[in-house]
Amino acid sequence: MSYGAISIPAVRALSRGAKLSGCWFNTGEGGLSPYHLEGGCDLVFQIGTAKYGVRNPDGSLSEERLREIAVIPQIKMFEIKLSQGAKPGKGGILPGSKVTDEIAKIRGIPKGEDSISPNRHPEISNFSELLSFINRIRDITGKPVGFKIAVGAHGWLEEMCDMIHQCGTTCAPDFITIDGGDGGTGAAPMPLMDSVGLPIKAALPKVVDILQQHGLRNRIKVIASGKLINPSETAWAFCAGADLVTSARGFMLAMGCIQALKCNKNTCPTGITTHNKRLQQGLNPTEKAVRIKNFVHKIHYGSGLIAHACGVPHPRALRRSHCQIVQANTQPVPLDELYPYQETLPDYRPSTSQKTPQETEMDL
Ligand SMILES: Cc1cc2nc3c(=O)[nH]c(=O)nc-3n(C[C@H](O)[C@H](O)[C@H](O)COP(=O)(O)O)c2cc1C
Ligand code: SF4
Repeated sequence: MSYGAISIPAVRALSRGAKLSGCWFNTGEGGLSPYHLEGGCDLVFQIGTAKYGVRNPDGSLSEERLREIAVIPQIKMFEIKLSQGAKPGKGGILPGSKVTDEIAKIRGIPKGEDSISPNRHPEISNFSELLSFINRIRDITGKPVGFKIAVGAHGWLEEMCDMIHQCGTTCAPDFITIDGGDGGTGAAPMPLMDSVGLPIKAALPKVVDILQQHGLRNRIKVIASGKLINPSETAWAFCAGADLVTSARGFMLAMGCIQALKCNKNTCPTGITTHNKRLQQGLNPTEKAVRIKNFVHKIHYGSGLIAHACGVPHPRALRRSHCQIVQANTQPVPLDELYPYQETLPDYRPSTSQKTPQETEMDL
């Protein structure tokens, strides 16, 4: 979630909370602010279609600016945003009322004017150009680079995998973030949010299977998002084949979001998505950072509990055979029957340093 879409105290709370809980924080497409760095957490820098924070005045990529960002040690990797589940096929809009002096400076855009990002990266119209762009960013930054997408049509990933094999697996993205088609933000058009893009439950196993079939499953990490905000959902994602799980709304709820869905109106009553100083007063970054830490730890604890109940030492050792999906006719079908695939992932062995759920609970 970008600084711009969310407020200064919200970015501060997330930065501090991420540091406390040992998770990363994604800048969103709005560029890097001092508030992201403040807590000392690891950061993923997102490059959106408007290249906010790393753009030339004409909207193209500024390699010079990208180099300056890449040398910041807290920035651990770069995510090229192709699309997000809330509005596949559409760019973002930050209303002029939210484009303050500081946001304009950080993003590299005029103050007070609606900030509209294109619906796609102008330099990417096919997979060859996507791979070139990924490798250009990786060469400049020296850090891992992947992309984020909400999955719709099929066929594209197979085509991309074939192309990766043609140019060699070193040219592959280091990760793909799969966003569920019902991904959040109160600023998204309802018809897109509700009906366009596959839900994560359908998209994630499909993507994992295609990578597997093309022998790229261990080369490309898979990150999943889309309402994966409680331990049973995150455990499902690991069973389906995710390496990592990420969330926006889970953290908004942890900061006190009441789902008033006024995120684009600058009148958020909880101070999360408004730049109105009076409304921000209720959001104390120090206090909310602890809530964020508690949320992450509860997710870790709960996912660990499910993993241990299934007889594996860690949530990432969960496999499809551990999960059954109850169908509309009440009959459970094992996930590995719904989506059979040959597993080649590392076999996680119990380690003596592995914390038990009880030990983890004591840390909370
Ligand atoms: C306020 C807000 C701002 C967001 N900004 C971005 C963004 O800048 N870039 C992006 O890729 N996704 C953005 N998202 C989408 C989330 O990253 C995520 O993909 C989506 O909300 C699904 O995850 P969730 O169900 O855990 O929220 C935003 C979501 C929210 C709620
Ligand atoms: S309280 Fe409402 S306006 Fe504020 S972040 Fe939550 S959904 Fe958006």
